[in-house]
Amino acid sequence: RGATRARLRVLVEEARSMSMSVARVLLGRSASVVAARAPRQRPYRRRRRTAPVAGTRTSSSNAGHEQQQQQQQQASDQAHQDSAGFPHVSVMLDEVLAAFEGRPVRTFIDGTLGAGGHSSALAAAHPEMRKLVGLDVDPTAHALAGPRIAAAAASSELEVDLRLSNFSRLEEQADAAGVLASGGADGILLDLGVSSMQLDDRSRGFSFLSPDERADMRMDPQSPLDAATLVNTWSEDEIGRVLREYGEERRWRSLAARLVRARSERGAPIETVGELITAMGLPLDRRRGRDKIHPATRAFQGIRIAVNGELDVLKAVLPQAMRALAPGGRLAIISFHSLEDRMVKRAFREAEAQTKRPSAEAVAAGFASEPPPRDTDWPDDLPRVRLVNRKAAAPSKNETEGNKRARSAKLRVLERLPDE
Ligand SMILES: C[S@@+](CC[C@H](N)C(=O)[O-])C[C@H]1O[C@@H](n2cnc3c(N)ncnc32)[C@H](O)[C@@H]1O
Repeated sequence: RGATRARLRVLVEEARSMSMSVARVLLGRSASVVAARAPRQRPYRRRRRTAPVAGTRTSSSNAGHEQQQQQQQQASDQAHQDSAGFPHVSVMLDEVLAAFEGRPVRTFIDGTLGAGGHSSALAAAHPEMRKLVGLDVDPTAHALAGPRIAAAAASSELEVDLRLSNFSRLEEQADAAGVLASGGADGILLDLGVSSMQLDDRSRGFSFLSPDERADMRMDPQSPLDAATLVNTWSEDEIGRVLREYGEERRWRSLAARLVRARSERGAPIETVGELITAMGLPLDRRRGRDKIHPATRAFQGIRIAVNGELDVLKAVLPQAMRALAPGGRLAIISFHSLEDRMVKRAFREAEAQTKRPSAEAVAAGFASEPPPRDTDWPDDLPRVRLVNRKAAAPSKNETEGNKRARSAKLRVLERLPDE
């Protein structure tokens, strides 16, 4: 066992220093690493934390609770300091830590690994954690997050199992990782959307700052549909819908019409970010003042959401994530778009309504009133749950001032109840 662990530690070290392509193979489809104990301790700085999502304590003694709180605070401080060296700043980190505070988290699933910021902070705050399953469609995330989680883990017994997978296959991956057989996950996190690494890597085509790059916008480099393919092949109506619904772009009708006209007039497909912007009749650079957004921002957001099927995969994962929880386990979801938050809210409310729904016999006997109609977008056999926060939590002013990306973030947390 000692030899295996030593080998796995070497693996982590190798992954740390390896080139992306090799790390991709190493940490790819279902590589599993055992975390090495945190190699460094930084000075501990106490900081007051505001936590709109309350953790419900299950620990018995006050001393135990204080120790746990201190551990949590240290993990939070450490994570904030550590994030300085990473390209993605985790959004609502304190609130996510608070959602799991004081609760035993032995098994955790991070459905959107990214740079591993949330996962490493949770692994540091929960020394009882024994298994962390991380999913991401982007191999870049695996190469960054694996060593980071391993280094931050508070327990040398933590098994980190990283899987190159869409979270729409969460239940299948949880099963393959042995999470379902062991009773389910004590915590699941989805931090939706793109990471700063993806936005900042100009070759990925997410940014209007890279007009010569291919209009790609795929989070999953293996996915068959990229932005250029979408704008060259979808109809004007379909593109209009993407801009209106996903981009919330007021000028959707004229942008879609111009795009379709330009693509037939140019006699060659739209390939690059710059060609896409000019095909919509927008200027390549028109920033007025520091805070003005680029005129293509909303259109790009809509196209990105369509390219990655972001609402479809969210709809697919919600019931799966609820089912993959152990009784008492919590599901936390951070969304950045009103359509995403609405979908999360509706799924959570439907699960709660099913939990509280009176039996047909009770209604027939007059003991309970007729329940409101079901939301048929969701399966009728969702697990029993309670909503931890009825109103979505928002980031603090302090956070939004320091991280613009956090401005539209909303956090909802749900807890699975024991089966009846
Ligand atoms: C906002 S970042 C997560 C950041 C992470 N929580 C952290 O603290 O570093 C979102 C990540 O989720 C990944 N992602 C988005 N949608 C996904 C999906 N449907 N399945 C798997 N990964 C996804 C993206 O590739 C990206 O790396």
